Amino acid sequence: MSVEHPIIVAIDGPAASGKSTVAKRVAAELGCVFVNSGGMYRAFTWWVLQNDIEPSDTVSVIELLGRTEFLCGEEDGVGTITVGGTRMTRKEMASTQVNGQVSMIASIPEVRERLVGEQRLYASRTSVVMEGRDIGSVVFPETPFKFYIDASPEVREARRRAEGIDDAIAERDKIDSSRKASPLVIAEDALVIDSSDLGVDEVVARVIGSIRERL
Ligand code: CDP
Repeated sequence: MSVEHPIIVAIDGPAASGKSTVAKRVAAELGCVFVNSGGMYRAFTWWVLQNDIEPSDTVSVIELLGRTEFLCGEEDGVGTITVGGTRMTRKEMASTQVNGQVSMIASIPEVRERLVGEQRLYASRTSVVMEGRDIGSVVFPETPFKFYIDASPEVREARRRAEGIDDAIAERDKIDSSRKASPLVIAEDALVIDSSDLGVDEVVARVIGSIRERL
């Protein structure tokens, strides 16, 4: 589908709701860059652990943040992130340690402020489909293209298990939804899609259909 650029599509939702898969496909169809904002929180969490800093030691985490350089780029239509000189791979970002600590790190307002700045920079350079927790509600509240992809807790647990990843998603959801700084909420004007009983093609078709209607 050809769309007039620049365009920003925001896709939010809880852990393992299928939003990454959908966002990637939507980005490819629209000719936008796919950006997983969770990857940025994961990358910084990895860096905190790499520096032997206890994630609950907020003062040290913020001090590290102040002397850390992020480089957010793009390769084959997918956002890339380099933190402290290391280009992140999926293996590092989805490690059990990172899964266990990322929500704690992402609840620190200073961390969010910095990474939201990086997320907005992306969109100032190119059209994006960005997925996360607060993309429609906080990062790009002015975009008309907002989606919230949900699925039942059972379906989400099963999807993560099927990927062979050790991930306490219920725990992450609890922290992400109850934190003070930009909690996971459904933006007022977001289209909510429950993907529990839908295949990826169907969810992608609904997202694209809704964008087309509003163009
Ligand atoms: O693996 P999953 O898709 O569930 O999560 P993710 O998108 O990789 O995000 C990992 C974690 O980063 C989330 O559990 C949140 O704690 C945090 N996050 C956030 O706070 N805000 C975002 N926009 C994206 C992720």
